[in-house]
Amino acid sequence: MPETPWWRRGVVYQIAVPSFADSNGDGRGDLRGIIERLDYLNDSTDTSLGIDAIWLTPINMSPLSDFGYDVSDYYSIDPRFGTMRDFDELVEECHRRGIRVVMDLVLNHTSIDHPWFVESRSSRDNHKRDWYIWRDGRAPGKPPNDWLAVVEGSAWQYDETTDQYYYHAFLPFQPDLNWRNPDVRREMLGVARFWLDKGVDGFRLDLVNCLYEDVLLRNNPPKLGPRPYLAQKHVHDLSQPESLEIASELRRLADEFEGRVLMGEVLTDMPDVCVDYLGDGTDRLHLSFYFDFIRIKWNSGAFRRSVRWLEEHIPRDEWPCYYLSNHDLPRSYTRLGGSHPRARAKVAAVMLLTLRGTPILYYGEEIGMPSSRVPRRMLDDPIGRKFWPLRVGRDGSRAPMQWSAKANAGFSSWRSWLPVDSSYRSRNVEQQGGRPDSLLSWYRQLLCLRKANQALHSGDYHEIDQVPAGVFAYTRQSGPEAVAVYLNFTAHRIACPRPPEPPPGRAWHVLLSTHEADRTSGLSHIRLMPNEALLIEAI
Ligand code: NOJ
Repeated sequence: MPETPWWRRGVVYQIAVPSFADSNGDGRGDLRGIIERLDYLNDSTDTSLGIDAIWLTPINMSPLSDFGYDVSDYYSIDPRFGTMRDFDELVEECHRRGIRVVMDLVLNHTSIDHPWFVESRSSRDNHKRDWYIWRDGRAPGKPPNDWLAVVEGSAWQYDETTDQYYYHAFLPFQPDLNWRNPDVRREMLGVARFWLDKGVDGFRLDLVNCLYEDVLLRNNPPKLGPRPYLAQKHVHDLSQPESLEIASELRRLADEFEGRVLMGEVLTDMPDVCVDYLGDGTDRLHLSFYFDFIRIKWNSGAFRRSVRWLEEHIPRDEWPCYYLSNHDLPRSYTRLGGSHPRARAKVAAVMLLTLRGTPILYYGEEIGMPSSRVPRRMLDDPIGRKFWPLRVGRDGSRAPMQWSAKANAGFSSWRSWLPVDSSYRSRNVEQQGGRPDSLLSWYRQLLCLRKANQALHSGDYHEIDQVPAGVFAYTRQSGPEAVAVYLNFTAHRIACPRPPEPPPGRAWHVLLSTHEADRTSGLSHIRLMPNEALLIEAI
């Protein structure tokens, strides 16, 4: 049997670079800070977290007007994050520990400050004019068509210099590159090659289905939706077939190197589009983010249905990818926690780390960092700043990592670019690391189990039928190895059916439970305690 690739077996840890660890006291996280914390992530002992790869939010040169998703030079590192030497050292140190490094690659748009755009906007006949999407308005004061930016408002920005509009799928300071121009295509694929040559193990591709737009710029048809952007069918501005071609071209490029991964952020409310980006398993992306999963409230049936949908629609040779938090979403501890956040966080951890698929763990999720309230005057996110208080923006999920109870949560010796969440005094790595019942210890145990257990990291997925409402249960199986997972989403006890017959010659035994102490009764009946996550193994 061919060996399972690392990006299927492993767990990816997302690091929001500005908020992880500040090595020089300027208040912002940096590459050296990450190097100093690598032992925490994986030092090959079970006192470290035990992740397999890190995904870094953008570190290229940028005005940082959108957390680095506004690049002004793709070939350099922003000095606030470090130098190219720091980057090389980070990659080397990671590789020495068996940690892979995945970079965020922002191919759809640049910063308005990128020299390409500065040239492009300077005159209609500049040689970079066609690197971006410029059009005349329909009439004075009217943009070229009805397309809306993801964050609301027209996706067209009028520019006085040349009396034309430029297109931006996201914010006005993030003009879209014109991928129909062969020079743009060549340059951006060259950017990918540059970083692959430098040894990165893959990319997280920002807005990968937004690269191309309809060549005729046709209006999007209307539909019912709660806000203007969602009241359009995005048939002409998103997910054009040419963007899929780029996914394939990037795959061919990645395949020239050994063991690289492409993880795509596919922006869509149609889950089949997310599956399209995986192709037949060999010709497009390796992993594609599944937006449906993060829209779900704490509801066992909803998670079961979401997983079932993906299991039924993903090609046989393809592999799901799940996450519960990221830098754009309220943190799962708060979003899903309700009145039992600690107990639910443990159940959520089991679900994330035992479903069939690659889990992405967002920094701080392992210690239960909540979404913070960031006062208006301290907001950094352009969405929060623009729409506050209607939309508070994304800073709440980007607070500094809580390392200890020291000043600035041990994140920085001097200050912090966003306020640390007040929970840091009692919820931090130092304090949880020493407590066997902490969420951090729970994550360590689960990661360790997952690594050692073939069924958990590579096995098939089967739903366990006829479980009572409030329970999500499934088995993972690889050859004779099998694990059954029972997740009680409720705060009361629930009796469940026994799992299916174990593989021949084996019997079910308790492997791990959030309620170990209460689990003395054997497995003749499965009675779940309130908010219990139970793993049983066929031995
Ligand atoms: C998606 C990223 O996750 C988000 O943080 C960013 O603002 C947009 N893409 C624009 O690049």
